[in-house]
Amino acid sequence: MKNFTFHNPTKLIFGKGQISKLSSLIPKDKKVMITFGGGSVKKNGVYEQVVAALKEHNYIEFWGIEPNPTVETLRKAITLGKENNIDFILAVGGGSVLDGTKLIASAIPYSGDAWEIVLKGKADNCIPFASVMTLPATGSEMNNGGVISRSETKEKYAFNARYPEFSILDPETTYSLPPNQVANGLADIYVHVMEQYLTTPGQSRVMDRWAEGILLTVLEIAPKIKENQHDYDTMADFMLSATMALNDFIRMGVTQDWATHMIGHELTAFTGIAHGASLAIVLPGTMYVMREQKKGKILQYGERIFNITEGTEDEKIILAIKKTEDFFKSIGLATTFSEAKIDISVIDKIVNRFKEVNVVLGESRNITAEVVREILGER
Ligand code: NZQ
Ligand code: ZN
Repeated sequence: MKNFTFHNPTKLIFGKGQISKLSSLIPKDKKVMITFGGGSVKKNGVYEQVVAALKEHNYIEFWGIEPNPTVETLRKAITLGKENNIDFILAVGGGSVLDGTKLIASAIPYSGDAWEIVLKGKADNCIPFASVMTLPATGSEMNNGGVISRSETKEKYAFNARYPEFSILDPETTYSLPPNQVANGLADIYVHVMEQYLTTPGQSRVMDRWAEGILLTVLEIAPKIKENQHDYDTMADFMLSATMALNDFIRMGVTQDWATHMIGHELTAFTGIAHGASLAIVLPGTMYVMREQKKGKILQYGERIFNITEGTEDEKIILAIKKTEDFFKSIGLATTFSEAKIDISVIDKIVNRFKEVNVVLGESRNITAEVVREILGER
């Protein structure tokens, strides 16, 4: 196990009716900005609960943070925040609203342009913010990362801000999710775990078992969600899996990959495909092309997650990759460019972008631009 420091300061407030706690969670002397996406919260009752809880607070609203939030939109919120001396932000919505809020909170105390913070990869300063999370997927509710797009140049990069002060997770808010967002969320959770798990075996039993527990949970609940999206306990596990998959808990002392995410972000930047959907296309290729290096862990994954115990090592590895693809297909996601109707000319664009900056990805920093081409190519 490698040395590590663990410090996650976000307070999680989980369960039915917890949105009402906002009234005491945000200090009354704060000048608050509430940030929203495109309006889903007005249809599912979340907006009413938030404004009812904050009736004694001093707040303004900012609407319109889009999926894959763009710096162009966020600049408007930053200007509004500066003009109104905002010193606390509450994000209400999915990962995009919260990621966007992380940039707004970082840029309010910054004198330059917000995109500079994204390119630098981290904010030096950041006003406090919190969330009411309505979409289980990103883990943004309990981590310090954000991913921001710039539509002008078709770029999409991650940066670090600070952790949310608190996040409220009420599983009932997920009842209104459309099926494609459920699928994207499940895929995102699954791949977050894989990025931190599918490297080298024998680093930590605790981390391995924890990661495998989340993978097994996702596989178990996926069909149940399809059957009944209003089952509270199923949706509660969906929400908690998302948080646990990317809140630093399963990566203590172990190596991490993240190549699939870096490639997926480029796929989204060039095509606009949803984040979770991009990962379902990239992960099987990453597993296949890196199968020799990841052999030990893929075999462990196959055995512990899918009970694959028969056949040669090569056969077991291929079957584990196929089972992974089958899971994505079972939730309605495409796993190849052709299934997703994405033109393969995008592969060149992605490879060229990685070449320009000499990017090397993966836990061994050996996934070069040309390896990315293989990952995205036909299998
Ligand atoms: O905008 P509204 O109207 O609110 O609708 C949203 C949006 O259209 C809708 N939605 C959210 N909650 C809903 C709902 N509709 C009905 N009922 C609800 N309860 O869902 C749509 C998608 O929302 P979005 O926030 O974009 O999805 P998600 O949470 O998957 O976030 C994706 C973004 O997060 C980034 C991704 O790259 C992408 O930009 N990521 C952030 C990470 C992080 N901060 O740690 C890590 C991830 O790997 C990921 O990269
Ligand atoms: Zn992700």
